[in-house]
Amino acid sequence: MKIWIIGYGKMGKEIHRQLTERGYPEPFISERLTPEILANPEITSCEVAIEFTHPEAAIDNYLQIFSTGIPLVSGTTGWLNQEDRILKAREEFNTGFFYASNFSPGMYLFRKMHRELARQMNRFPQYGVSMEESHHLQKQDAPSGTAISLAQDLLDELDSKTSWVCNQPAQAHQIPITAHRIGEVPGTHQVHYASAFDQISIRHDAKSRAGFAWGAIEAALFMRGKKGLFTLENLYGEK
Ligand SMILES: NC(=O)c1ccc[n+]([C@@H]2O[C@H](COP(=O)([O-])OP(=O)(O)OC[C@H]3O[C@@H](n4cnc5c(N)ncnc54)[C@H](OP(=O)(O)O)[C@@H]3O)[C@@H](O)[C@H]2O)c1
Repeated sequence: MKIWIIGYGKMGKEIHRQLTERGYPEPFISERLTPEILANPEITSCEVAIEFTHPEAAIDNYLQIFSTGIPLVSGTTGWLNQEDRILKAREEFNTGFFYASNFSPGMYLFRKMHRELARQMNRFPQYGVSMEESHHLQKQDAPSGTAISLAQDLLDELDSKTSWVCNQPAQAHQIPITAHRIGEVPGTHQVHYASAFDQISIRHDAKSRAGFAWGAIEAALFMRGKKGLFTLENLYGEK
């Protein structure tokens, strides 16, 4: 499987390293997309594109990659305010798109447990919910894409909450998220439920970027020759 990597930062480099380690052909690597890159004949030999760039670059990148018809796997976060536009464009180009805010299998399992805990919590209104996330200083968006997904899970499951706020005081119907930007932390997410008696916390710590890259490569293997919209449920969900 030959891969087209778009974005050669921390994630692009880790994906390249793992592709080499796993014996896949040398990928075609591009950083910023230009007309010259899009016209490069080497692209046509790529079966899947993997994009990890920047919130501001993702939308243009997606539209250009959709136009090539090559199935796209992307993990770039911070663009979901334009989700409707992107999903409509994907349909128009009739191409393959796999998006996840966190590709690690551990976070997929964490979310399963998180949703179930939230569902149970509706019966125990004495517990107040809050969320915390920590990432490295270079991270551009806050809260993280993963934190937004976890907050959306809570909004789906908790009857008492209707929105979230980040790093500001929350009203009773809001989920407070605290986002920390410190050191070299690859990504930590915590969900807390506190009552007058006790506190329950669940926590996921990424040890490095390797799990994200592994998941993105698995998604790319899954996407070969596929059209349509796919998520981690298609990859890791019970068959
Ligand atoms: N879904 C997941 O599992 C997961 C995991 C980790 C990270 N992420 C997300 O993935 C994205 C990339 O993370 P990273 O750690 O690899 O970031 P990074 O190290 O900062 O690398 C970003 C890359 O994108 C390029 N880029 C920046 N602005 C661009 C633009 N306007 N047009 C095209 N390319 C541009 C950068 O090129 P220059 O060097 O030229 O600026 C660089 O190659 C972020 O959104 C991050 O939140 C997702």
